[in-house]
Amino acid sequence: MPNIDIDAVKAQIDAEIEKINSAPALEDFRIKYLGRKGIVAQLTASIPNLIPHERQAFGQKVNTLKNRIASLVEEKQKTLVEPERQAGAGGVDMGMPGIAQDLGRLHPLTQVIDEICAIFMRMGFSIVEGPEIETEHNNFTGLNIPLEHPSRDVFDTFYLKLASERVSQLTGSTGKLANRQTGKLLLRSHTSPVQIRVMQSRKPPLAVVVPGRVYRPDAVDASHSFMFHQIEGFMVDKNIAFSDLKGVLTILAKAVFGKEIKMRFRPHFFPFTEPSAEVDISCIICKGKGCSVCGRKGWLEILGSGMIHPNVFKNVGYGPKKYTGFAFGMGVERIAMLKYGINDIRLFFENDMRFLKQF
Ligand code: DAH
Repeated sequence: MPNIDIDAVKAQIDAEIEKINSAPALEDFRIKYLGRKGIVAQLTASIPNLIPHERQAFGQKVNTLKNRIASLVEEKQKTLVEPERQAGAGGVDMGMPGIAQDLGRLHPLTQVIDEICAIFMRMGFSIVEGPEIETEHNNFTGLNIPLEHPSRDVFDTFYLKLASERVSQLTGSTGKLANRQTGKLLLRSHTSPVQIRVMQSRKPPLAVVVPGRVYRPDAVDASHSFMFHQIEGFMVDKNIAFSDLKGVLTILAKAVFGKEIKMRFRPHFFPFTEPSAEVDISCIICKGKGCSVCGRKGWLEILGSGMIHPNVFKNVGYGPKKYTGFAFGMGVERIAMLKYGINDIRLFFENDMRFLKQF
């Protein structure tokens, strides 16, 4: 006879399983009875020592006991595992660092464009966009920049080589005469042609801001790119004065660069405005004392502006005696570089995450 009493074991397991309330305790229980050297294994090992006619009945009893223990363990496991997981023990380690989700963000240029557009929208301007492929007429002629005029040279331009049928398709004009009026197609070299588009399709009063990409065949270096962004703005109505331009641009500069910023309007020349002015702000690095960023001048140029030239009004069919207006245009990259202290324009276009993540 084996020295383990099978009936005593049966009674014992019920009492023991009842008390178990953790996964490790249940595992100990399983090993004690069903393990390789456990009680069931010992009982099985003792079968050959029995007298032959007892072996079958005893073997069946051991089998029944084994199945019973197995199902008790299985039952108990169901009641233990789930609550333990929720409590953070067992299979899940609540102390493990989480996997951080890297959120996307807006490009710094998009942020600056959005910020500037929002400032103008608060002043009642509306936002309009125009196409990047423009006609020679809108980019130059309509803006009082005659084709042979030397001022055209400063706007070095990418011209498109397109068959005249394609030009007609894109401009909506047909026939040689119409093509002669719209001219060749090009990648716009500034956002000013949208002035022509808006004024041709709408009547004053107008207060419009135009953000967008522009293109110039410049060699790429720390301050030049063949593609960059501008924001154009203009206001047209009866009795718009230069003082309105000054007021609007002062609000802009203080909102973007801070209330303490000083401004100055410096006479300049643009074919589409008369009088024209370039606008400087006091250097945000040295506060006007003179440093390497402002070239010891104490001032930083931020935009071009002026009163819309009567010829531009004539070109869009407005009465130049009836209406006056101002216009301005600024480079978004330049503003962003000054605002954030960025010293190389190429950083905006390389998409290096180490740069982009800082905004
Ligand atoms: N279009 C000019 C440029 O690209 C910027 C500009 C200057 C726009 C004066 C204007 C303006 O509307 O009035 O350099």
